[in-house]
Amino acid sequence: MNHPAMQGLNLNTPAYVKNARLIAWVADMVALCKPDNVYWCDGSDAEYQRLCQQLVDAGTFKKLNEAKRPNSFLACSDPSDVARVEDRTYICSVNKENAGPTNNWMAPADMRSTLQPLFDGCMKGRTMYVVPFSMGPLGSHIAHIGIELSDSAYVAVNQKIMTRMGKAVYDVLGVDGDFVPCVHTVGAPLAAGQKDVKWPCNKTKYIVHYPETREIWSYGSGYGGNALLGKKCFALRIASNMGRDEGWLAEHMLILGVTNPQGKKYHVAAAFPSACGKTNFSMLVPPAGFDGWKVTTIGDDIAWIKPHADGKMYAINPEAGYFGVAPGTNMLTNPNCMRSLHRDTIFTNVALTDDGDVWWEGMEQDVPGKALPAHLIDWQGKDWTPQIAKETGAKAAHPNSRFTVAATNNPALDHAWDDPNGVPIDAFIFGGRRSTTVPLVTEARNWVEGVYAAATMGSETTAAIVGQVGVVRRDPFAMLPFTGYNMSDYFQHWLNLGQKLEAAGATLPRIYTTNWFRKGDDGKFVWPGYGENMRVLKWMIDRIEGGGQGTEHITGVSPRYEDLTWTGLDFSADQFETVINVDKAAWLKELELHAELFKQLEYHLPKELGETKAAIERRLAA
Ligand code: OXD
Ligand code: MN
Repeated sequence: MNHPAMQGLNLNTPAYVKNARLIAWVADMVALCKPDNVYWCDGSDAEYQRLCQQLVDAGTFKKLNEAKRPNSFLACSDPSDVARVEDRTYICSVNKENAGPTNNWMAPADMRSTLQPLFDGCMKGRTMYVVPFSMGPLGSHIAHIGIELSDSAYVAVNQKIMTRMGKAVYDVLGVDGDFVPCVHTVGAPLAAGQKDVKWPCNKTKYIVHYPETREIWSYGSGYGGNALLGKKCFALRIASNMGRDEGWLAEHMLILGVTNPQGKKYHVAAAFPSACGKTNFSMLVPPAGFDGWKVTTIGDDIAWIKPHADGKMYAINPEAGYFGVAPGTNMLTNPNCMRSLHRDTIFTNVALTDDGDVWWEGMEQDVPGKALPAHLIDWQGKDWTPQIAKETGAKAAHPNSRFTVAATNNPALDHAWDDPNGVPIDAFIFGGRRSTTVPLVTEARNWVEGVYAAATMGSETTAAIVGQVGVVRRDPFAMLPFTGYNMSDYFQHWLNLGQKLEAAGATLPRIYTTNWFRKGDDGKFVWPGYGENMRVLKWMIDRIEGGGQGTEHITGVSPRYEDLTWTGLDFSADQFETVINVDKAAWLKELELHAELFKQLEYHLPKELGETKAAIERRLAA
């Protein structure tokens, strides 16, 4: 009775949409959410321009100065909706154990009855956008399709940049192809005649995943990973479940290519927690002294990795754009990123300059002594001056402000970034943000030791998450908020995959841990980071080639001062010692934290991890 056809609402289904399950599902969701209109996105440029203009007319977007920043827009969100909401994010597996202790859980039936009244009529007065997207190159055997239903035009235009979005997805989907259904609402229905606000959202938020039925339901937020459901919800939480069942990996990793002066190319996948420099590392510009070396970007945030018949692990970037953190990005820290943002970019929560351009904290630091802008409109629409900032500490841009830009804008884009077969991975890197304890770089002696290092990784929290910034939390594999099932089973999955490939005679990728963030007694970062990380990357490649030297310690192998290339950088052996040393007392404390983690993850914790910990303790005691 409630069916849209019976309410007389036309679904406007285009003739090229032939997937019966999709059409039936859209009809059901229309019946539930009760939008005023249904609009099927075709992904065309004309549609993008139209929707952006609509957002400008609604006051959500401000068009930036066309001469300074062509085809670019600024959106400023509601101050209550600025980051991922981990405490409102749920994995609703049938059994609680399968969500594990690191995820919020509710029984699927209970969650469905919680969400039912919230979604009932949630899109009244709004348009439902049907957004078809492929995570990964269209038709790639590693890729998967999602359909997001959203009442946010902001989501639709961001998805056009972040994914392969549009009509061609339906050709791959066909009449009976599979897709992940993703429903998103800002949770702000409009009564007849009610005026909309610039950034509709709801105080109540739910980001819900049903892993068994591979569904995503998101309520109440219009921001980033809460709303662009292809990213964290699908490409990590749901895809990690697919990967476990099908023998592959969905990881919070950038993918880069690095080519040496002889033309030999390597591929590295690196996991860092949110807002710890993944985009910077993926676009690294080799420093002075590295003539002939080249780094190219395949992805900046997520990797889907499948073992291939040749025994190697091949990775694709399921995304097609970057949703990166703006503050701190400048021509010194990430010139390729700055060049990517010259045009065709959606900025969210950065500041507006008086000449209609954008600004964020750290942008001026590319020229020593460069003055701050005299006046800005901050991300909350208030006047900002250096004086106000000095007096109140007000940030012009929100610390989690973002840019959304197509990968194809990146001058360092790897020519294989869109290769449906992916690229073979030579090394994995896991990097936390730690002021103390963890050395600049360590190579694991074997796969199990690498899995241990990744599993026990700690990191200081950042503004990418609602909550306290700067507290150390364990962030296994940089996947704490993204593993869509029991974390210990996820560790086991990594161990099993390595064991299986090794048993078949494969050479596994090496595993490294890094820490760019150690601080000196003055509280300042010691390691210069950014492009200088190339020195560490080169050492890894030297190791892979069999020539790189190092010294063994309790958790693996690290370079000595003389093992890194220092040409072009003034960095003393003493400074190096502060970033590489393994302090016994600090590690005794660190191991207590590993023990706490293992206690929390006791259920199904692989025995190899306990054994590795015992081995580290023995070395520490020796
Ligand atoms: C992101 C995140 O947006 O990790 O990539 O929060
Ligand atoms: Mn991320």
